[in-house]
Amino acid sequence: MNVFAHRDGVLHAESVSLEAIAREFGTPCYVYSRAALENSFREFALACSGHDVLICYAMKANSNLAILDLFARLGAGFDIVSGGELARVIAAGGDPGKVVFSGVGKSEAEIRIALNAGILCFNVESEGELERLSQIAVAAKKVAPISLRVNPDVDAKTHPYISTGLKQNKFGIAHEDAPALYRRAASLPGIRVVGIDCHIGSQLTEIAPFLAALDRVLNLVDRLQRSGIHLEHIDLGGGVGIRYRNEEPPSLANYAKALFKRLGRRKVRVLFEPGRVLVGNAGLVLTRIEYVKQNESRNFAIVDAAMNDLMRPALYSAWHGIEAVRQRPGKARKYDIVGPICETGDFLGKNRMLAVESGDLLAIHSAGAYGMSMSSNYNSRPRAPEVLVDGDQVHLIREREQIADLFSGERLVPR
Ligand code: LLP
Repeated sequence: MNVFAHRDGVLHAESVSLEAIAREFGTPCYVYSRAALENSFREFALACSGHDVLICYAMKANSNLAILDLFARLGAGFDIVSGGELARVIAAGGDPGKVVFSGVGKSEAEIRIALNAGILCFNVESEGELERLSQIAVAAKKVAPISLRVNPDVDAKTHPYISTGLKQNKFGIAHEDAPALYRRAASLPGIRVVGIDCHIGSQLTEIAPFLAALDRVLNLVDRLQRSGIHLEHIDLGGGVGIRYRNEEPPSLANYAKALFKRLGRRKVRVLFEPGRVLVGNAGLVLTRIEYVKQNESRNFAIVDAAMNDLMRPALYSAWHGIEAVRQRPGKARKYDIVGPICETGDFLGKNRMLAVESGDLLAIHSAGAYGMSMSSNYNSRPRAPEVLVDGDQVHLIREREQIADLFSGERLVPR
């Protein structure tokens, strides 16, 4: 089902024209489809049906409360990486008992808050973290449920910035060091060993690296079992890619089938931490062309969205589909779509064939994941609003930031 499609020459989100959204909420604006969000979650759940599974949405991909709430209603847990994300889960009415806490740098304050909230599992990434966690738990008269994030040292074959499962990455505990650290964990008073986890990278388009990582994990699970450490769950992380342009990621059905086949008859709960695949293609950035400008070598469409709104092109040279909201007759020309920010890196797309004029609206696709959540206020630009389309209804799920908000916490020094 294509939730973003042209109807009568105008691009719609479900049944709502993007021109109407621009009129009501202004541009730039993030637009999400409820149907697309829910369909992707249901597709993931369906792919896992018949197995004991918890899908912990990696909310760093998009942490708007409305989206967390939709997923929570469908039974999702959450993969968090900060105290801020835990606060969002709670504010959205999510269940802390379905939260796993990832990340290499959990602070004392974050650990304390997560312990008090009663999260499902701390995904521990170092010996130092394990010791700190045990001390804090003992002092609070609690026991922290943990899994160790093992680094399986497999090549995820994705962009180096978002590849995490290699020895040279900062993530996880080396495979060969894991058994000793599990023994240490089992001996600590504030710790209860419950699982194992791995996450090898993001935007993976092949199944093979996931299977290679799983094999390494299962090898550890069996060794631990023999030494008397029994694990209740295996957390396979996130990472399934989406189609931005012409990538051919595995279907969720094939991905899950391959993993469950490899897991065989083991009686163990499986956790997943998908982010991008649940939200990436459920959102777009709606932006208006301020100016069209030519020089000797290029045409520029200067739009009102910029790298602060959608950082992925500038940061990873990521490609996002860009199209005109209203199709114009006339000859398409090749454009670089750039923002108003004073940096050459401020582009959203290059060499795109478009028939457009200043004042036209453009849609920047596949922006539901790592779009708004990575946005900033660079150049003192207020962050864009977010709207969620549900059939013919439009809900404002985040207001446009006000300029006064940008410096409300700042102070002049005394004269
Ligand atoms: N679990 C852990 C421990 C992670 O670090 C991540 C993503 C995920 C799950 C979710 O991965 P996903 O299913 O979304 O691939 N900003 C980058 C992506 C960074 C991913 C970081 N970790 C981008 O825009 O491509």
